[in-house]
Amino acid sequence: MAIFLGIDTGTSGTKAVLIDQSGKLLASELIEYALSTPRPQWAEQHPDTDWWQAAIKAIQGVLAKAGVSGSDVVGVGLTGQMHGSVFLDKSHQVLRPALLWCDARTGAECAEITELLGGAQGCYDILGQPVFTSFTAPKVLWVRKNEPAVYEKIAQILLPKDYIRFKLTGEFAAEVSDASGTSLFDVRQRTWSKAALDKLGIPREWLPRVVESPEQTGVISAEAAALTGLRAGTPVVGGGGDQAAGAVGCGVVSTGQVVSSLGTSGVVFAHSDTAAIDPQMRVQTFCHAVPGTWGQMGCVISAGGSLRWYRDTFAEGLGYDAITKGAMTAPAGCEGLLYLPYLAGERNPYFDPDARGVFFGATLRSTKDYFARAVLEGVSYAFKDLFTLFAEMGVPVSEIRASGGGARSPFWLQMMADVIEKQHVLLNIDEGPALGAALLAAVGTGAYTSVPEACAATVSTRPGALPNTTASAVYSRYYPTYRALYPALKSSFSEVARLPV
Ligand code: XUL
Repeated sequence: MAIFLGIDTGTSGTKAVLIDQSGKLLASELIEYALSTPRPQWAEQHPDTDWWQAAIKAIQGVLAKAGVSGSDVVGVGLTGQMHGSVFLDKSHQVLRPALLWCDARTGAECAEITELLGGAQGCYDILGQPVFTSFTAPKVLWVRKNEPAVYEKIAQILLPKDYIRFKLTGEFAAEVSDASGTSLFDVRQRTWSKAALDKLGIPREWLPRVVESPEQTGVISAEAAALTGLRAGTPVVGGGGDQAAGAVGCGVVSTGQVVSSLGTSGVVFAHSDTAAIDPQMRVQTFCHAVPGTWGQMGCVISAGGSLRWYRDTFAEGLGYDAITKGAMTAPAGCEGLLYLPYLAGERNPYFDPDARGVFFGATLRSTKDYFARAVLEGVSYAFKDLFTLFAEMGVPVSEIRASGGGARSPFWLQMMADVIEKQHVLLNIDEGPALGAALLAAVGTGAYTSVPEACAATVSTRPGALPNTTASAVYSRYYPTYRALYPALKSSFSEVARLPV
C-alpha cells in the first residue's frame, strides 16, 4: 500500500498525518510546544528543541498509531507556520530562536524596508504586497540592527518547514507559496526578487533554491531515517506554507473556492488563476501550492489564538466546550459588549503591529459568559472584515469551505455563517495543512498527475451552516460599531506601544 506523510510545523505544535492514495486518513499525531514571549510583541520558538524534536516524535508516533512501517511511506510533504526566520551559521547550527509570524517587534524595520523599496508603489511593483511585521525580511533587518554578532555569522536563512526539510534530507530548499511571505520574493515571477535582495543588502546565497510545491527536493537521509523510523531514500517534496497547503487539503484549487480557516490565526484564502494583485494591497497575493496559480489571502492574527488566550487567562481549568456552552447562554450581540481580537497587532485590513486587544461596552450585566461570547463574535467580525475586502476587490466567492479547530464547534461555525451571511460547508477530512502536504507528496511521487486531480479524488464536502436571518440581523446591527472602534483607537494603540515597558 502506498502511504503519504504530511508534517505540519505549526505554532502550537507539530502534526504528522498519514494517508493512503484514496485520501483515507490512517493516523494523525500532534506534539505540542510552547510559544516564548520574552517581551511584549515578541514571539519565538526554537527550531531544534521545539520543532525538530517534535517532528521526530510526531513521525514516530504517527507510524506507531497507524501500525505501519516507515518503509510503507513513499512520499513526504512539508508544511508549517509561514514567515518565521531560522538563522543558521556556516556549520548549519541554529544561531538564535526563530522570530515567528506573530512577532510584532519589527515595526521600525518595516518602515525602513518600505522606504528602501520605494514606498508603497515600490512594494507593489517589487513584492506585490506591503511589508508587515509578520514577514521574514524585517526580522533579518532587526537582527542586523540589534544583534550584530548573530548577524555576522548568518550563512543561511530558512522558513520553519524548510528547516525540517534540512534536518530530514540535508538539503536547503524552499517552495513558492511559503517564499511568497518573506518580503524577498517576486510573486508574479515566482522567484526570489533580485531588486528586494539588492536594496536590502541581503546576500542571495543566504536563501535556498525555490521549487514549485509538488516538486521533489531531496530524500530522507540515513541519519533522519534512524531518528524517525522513515526509510532512507524516501522522497520529500516542496510542500507549502500552511495556508496554501491548507487550501490544498480543503480542495480549494479552482476559482470561486475559498477556505476559511479558524486556527490559531484565522485566514481566508481564495484560489486565483492569475497573479491579481490589489492595487491598494489590502490583502496578500501569494503563490498557491498548485503550480502556476496564486491565492488571495487575508489574515486575522489572533483568531483561535484569542480563545486560547481567553481560556488561559480567564477560564483556567475549563475546556473549549465548557467555555462555548457558557457563551451560548449570552445573547447574540452580547448587548453591545464587543471584542477586538488584536492581541498581537492585526494584519488585514489594518497592517498595524501596535493594535491591541480590546473589550468595549461592558455593563453591570456583562458576565463571564458574555465575555466568552464576545471573543467568539469579535473574531467572527474580523473574518467579516476579510470577506468585505474580498467583495470590494471583486474576488469571486462561490463556496466557503470551513476548516480548523474553530470550525469543529457547531456554535462558532453557525456564528461565522450568521455574521458573514454566507453558507459555510465542511470537509470529509479536516486535517488542514498536514493533509495538503501529504497530497502534495502524492502528486510529487506520481500517484496523481496534478494537484486538482489529487483533490478531486480525495476531498469532498458536507453540509456545514446556513445563515440564520434573525441572528444575522442582530450581528449586522453591531458590526458598524465594531468597524468604527479601530479607527477611533488607532492613535491610542500607537501611544501605548511607544511607552517604555
Ligand atoms: C499566514 C500566517 C499564519 C501563519 C501561522 O500568512 O501568518 O497563518 O502561517 O499559521
